[in-house]
Amino acid sequence: MKRINTPAEWNPLWLSHLQKNERIGFVPTMGALHQGHLDLVQKSVQNTDTTLVSIFVNPTQFNNPEDFKKYPNTLEDDLEKLESAGVDYVFVPEVNTIYPEKAELKLDFGDVERVLEGEFRPGHFNGVGVVVSKLFHFIRPHVAFFGQKDLQQVAIIKRLVRDLSFPIELEIVPTRREEDGLAMSSRNLRLNPEERIQALILIQSLEKAKRELFDGKSWFQVQKEIERDFQQVPLAKLDYFELVHPDTFESQTEFNPEKKSSICVAAYLGEIRLIDNLPIIP
Ligand code: PAJ
Repeated sequence: MKRINTPAEWNPLWLSHLQKNERIGFVPTMGALHQGHLDLVQKSVQNTDTTLVSIFVNPTQFNNPEDFKKYPNTLEDDLEKLESAGVDYVFVPEVNTIYPEKAELKLDFGDVERVLEGEFRPGHFNGVGVVVSKLFHFIRPHVAFFGQKDLQQVAIIKRLVRDLSFPIELEIVPTRREEDGLAMSSRNLRLNPEERIQALILIQSLEKAKRELFDGKSWFQVQKEIERDFQQVPLAKLDYFELVHPDTFESQTEFNPEKKSSICVAAYLGEIRLIDNLPIIP
């Protein structure tokens, strides 16, 4: 596996793969890699000719400076995991390489960014949109891999690719979970043992809500019940629990089995904010 720190190092390599008619797969990450990231990596290794993974903790997508400061850094471990997974290149740029100057551009993704994560983390999707655009320009892959775990990010990236005509295919990979159901996340490393146990309220509430919708309860009833369940979990504080269309993020007030829908949840466990989602009608 070759480590690259600047786009200039990548350009001749990119050209040589292109000349051999090879398909380049790209997996953008912020490091602190777990099996969820590695599922994306594995899919790229299997389905493309050469795989590049980026590790860059993008400062502009953190609306909370503490969260940025405390984001886990496990670079040596990450490099080992990527090497064993059969990755060809890892791109580890410095902040100055990505942002030689402050990016002033503001992207507006429309209604999809005004709700849920967009509402609770102002500026977050602008930061994601700008950094992913820069990475797409630097790497110029044929296909890029994203996780369903960050469902609203997927909707944003689809719009970015559509509206800016990036000639890049997107592959979306299902959420990888711990054995007890907690969605894998780099932030799980920061939960203390009590918070880790109580974090199960996220997946348990998603599954309970899904069951109850199929049992015929109204969304209004289900949502109220889940809000009460969260109040029983002392270390958890619910940000939102919403039924949405997974592409537009339009909120669904009634469950309609004919219509695509997912439930999205975000909650704090102590200081740590976690998100998860469950497709109801895929
Ligand atoms: P990060 O949180 O490191 O995630 C990198 C990729 O891994 C994202 O596409 C994310 O959805 C996926 N992922 C994370 N946890 C997962 C899980 N449990 N199962 C499946 N996939 C999972 O998302 C980002 O970084 C950044 O916003 C980025 C796109 C790199 C831009 O900075």
